[in-house]
Amino acid sequence: MQLKNSHFLSVEQITTFDTLELIYTLAKRLETLLTQKKLPAVLSGFILLNLFFEPSTRTRLSFAAAFNRLGGSTLDVTEPASTSLVKGESLYDTSRVMSAYADIIVLRHPQALALAEFAEASQVPVINGGNGIGEHPTQALLDIYTILKELAVDKISRLKALTICMVGDLKQGRTVHSLSKLLSLLGNKVTFKLVAPAALQMPADVIAVLQKNLSTVIETTDLCSGVANADVVYMTRIQQERFTSAAEGARHAGSYAIDKAFFEQYCHKNTVLMHPLPRDSRLATPEINADLNQHPNLAIFRQVQNGITVRMALLCLLLGLEQKVN
Ligand code: NCD
Repeated sequence: MQLKNSHFLSVEQITTFDTLELIYTLAKRLETLLTQKKLPAVLSGFILLNLFFEPSTRTRLSFAAAFNRLGGSTLDVTEPASTSLVKGESLYDTSRVMSAYADIIVLRHPQALALAEFAEASQVPVINGGNGIGEHPTQALLDIYTILKELAVDKISRLKALTICMVGDLKQGRTVHSLSKLLSLLGNKVTFKLVAPAALQMPADVIAVLQKNLSTVIETTDLCSGVANADVVYMTRIQQERFTSAAEGARHAGSYAIDKAFFEQYCHKNTVLMHPLPRDSRLATPEINADLNQHPNLAIFRQVQNGITVRMALLCLLLGLEQKVN
């Protein structure tokens, strides 16, 4: 994939490891510079527009932190009601106008198809910050980066085999759509154990990509067998806001939860425990119980940290500024 001046809308744009290695090599370099407090101001004079039409804290702030730390400035729109869309402006016009204000745009939109329409009209690169139940490609980038680091594998091509158990609302959770499709580039090295309530299984079009890439796919409703022998367990939230009725969402609330006792009984001692966050802490049994907060295998806060450097790398590459990081 040619990154410079491209939109980044779907992980399906990435078809080889080379692109991932490029992003991760730069992310590693930026991580070192961040730790040494020696980050170069390569984005000085550049503006990022965060256009978020759905709730977000980490994705929006992670992009802002990444951009600001490299010397750039950010503009934010977080309320569709505060834009001219409510005056009847088309998404096309909004995109044309917004792209005159910034060098790069991150869009989060509740309607999966709005993204392509917006990107087509934009004069600057657009990054998908989550499009409804579609995809969340930058989360997948940071998740794979985290998996490699947690498993102490320095290059994705050196990963011998991986069993990942994905749990929760696999139908409506966009993070698992992007993560599974991108991981399936590893072909038959990867086994997906997909644990979801029968009504919330992974969509057929995503499964088709995994199978086309020759990965092994096992679907089940049983968490105990799902987590057995998994190198990574990736928990997700039931997407309450996406059900047509609150009652239907409530029916699935707390479907799957892992606490310390469960982890110790059913998971391998080296299993990496991940979650894109937020955890739904309103539940008596959140997806990952707080009694695991200090557990060394819990990678959720390291995912957040990795998100900043991976996004820094992606932003530099899309803007063609990577040569300036040395
Ligand atoms: C996720 C999202 O928005 O899709 N959050 C995130 O960006 N890390 C996950 C979720 O909301 O469940």
